[in-house]
Amino acid sequence: MKLRRWLAMLPWAPILVLGSGCSAPVEVDQNPSGDPTVFGLAPPLAKDLDPNADRVRVTLRASATTLEILPGHASTLQTYSGALPGPLIHAKRGDHLSVHFQNDLAEPSTLHFHGVRGENSMDGVPSATQPAVAPGDTFDYEFDLQDAGLFWYHPHHDSVAQLGSGLYGALLVDDPDEPADIGRQSVVVLSDVSLDADGNPLPFASDPQTILEGREGGVVLINGRPAQSLEVRSGERQRLRILNAARSRYFRLGLPGHSLLQIGSDGGQLEEPLSLSEALIVPGERLDLVIEPNGEVGTELGLLALPVSRGLPLAESATSTLLTLKFVAEGEPTPMPSLQRSLAALDPAGAEHVPIALTIDQSDGSLQMGINGVPFSLAEPVHARVGATQILSIENKSPYSHPFHLHGFFFQVLGDDQQPERPLALKDTLEIPPLSGRELVVSYDDRPGMWMFHCHVLDHAEAGMMGMLHVMP
Ligand code: C2O
Ligand code: CU
Repeated sequence: MKLRRWLAMLPWAPILVLGSGCSAPVEVDQNPSGDPTVFGLAPPLAKDLDPNADRVRVTLRASATTLEILPGHASTLQTYSGALPGPLIHAKRGDHLSVHFQNDLAEPSTLHFHGVRGENSMDGVPSATQPAVAPGDTFDYEFDLQDAGLFWYHPHHDSVAQLGSGLYGALLVDDPDEPADIGRQSVVVLSDVSLDADGNPLPFASDPQTILEGREGGVVLINGRPAQSLEVRSGERQRLRILNAARSRYFRLGLPGHSLLQIGSDGGQLEEPLSLSEALIVPGERLDLVIEPNGEVGTELGLLALPVSRGLPLAESATSTLLTLKFVAEGEPTPMPSLQRSLAALDPAGAEHVPIALTIDQSDGSLQMGINGVPFSLAEPVHARVGATQILSIENKSPYSHPFHLHGFFFQVLGDDQQPERPLALKDTLEIPPLSGRELVVSYDDRPGMWMFHCHVLDHAEAGMMGMLHVMP
């Protein structure tokens, strides 16, 4: 098939055609498998440059890029390899992943692979794990992918600005052992961006109140577009692998008249599926949802972003349609395969308690966020040993919501009975509602080093709500 016809079939075609002013990016695969139906909906794929079946090697090139987000208007943002979101890295559990990062921005940057259990030297945190990658420089990130699930990559330098201008992408690690017939799979990257009506990036207000609230972009994006649609057959299962890559925005998802089956979260599948009427996904978090949309052929059904508030003083967001499902035919309903995962519950008995209060201090008129009253710039690390188990007691002392994120390790959330909540889930990012607390149990495998934890409302992290966990050998 001719390349141009191929491009025209693809949902991201206008983005690639506008590209970065030169030819289509070489790091992105136009036709990864010869079959455009591998995913119902997905960002463009990162081209795998390694012929070996158990190794994936890709290049991600960060650069200023002009692309079309609002129809008919050019927006100059920052992207990985010319794509918004960045190219989807697709691998399977057990693969070795090499990512050649090339920084063609005019400023330093890094790549952090959120949720991936790699070595500390690969964690992408300037000063803690590596020097920031200077303009024009490169860095090679290497991991063995020990976990299946949806992960993601983003800079860990000037994160509010760099994520806010388009630097984020998804890493999907398949589980070779899972049943094949869970549903037609889509990768859905939710985010937002601040643009004026002509597509020009808006300067950010950065007064203390705005930072306190966390800056959201006014244009909600699903896989880099203000809205998307997906042709479905009534009754046929769709599996949505969803990432919230927004800097601050929360999404509460609902599908009118339908329940949502959550089968996985940050670190792959749940112990067993969970039926939900709606699903909250906070910045940094991932959801693996199965839906079975039913409707008359010719009609449409919207996956909605429902009103949600990120704190007691904040107004709720408005309802919007993220994804329009268009019923194009009757499907053949098939039985849902049984999805059980044997996960070991972490044992909190005798574990050391680590108090982590999320604090905001405005007493002298300025805004300082912190952990236990101390901003990141003055923080002393929390200490732990390889092989130890700790309970992180997260206490949100503020009237704002904070999505707590721990680098490098998964945790389990303790219930009122002081045991991990069922069904068991492996989490790296968790909503901590205003003026409330959660206890997280975490066990440190043999990857010593300096690991970060922080609020994933990135304005809050930059205002000081970040700490370090020193895992010692
Ligand atoms: Cu998405 Cu410090 O992380
Ligand atoms: Cu926060």
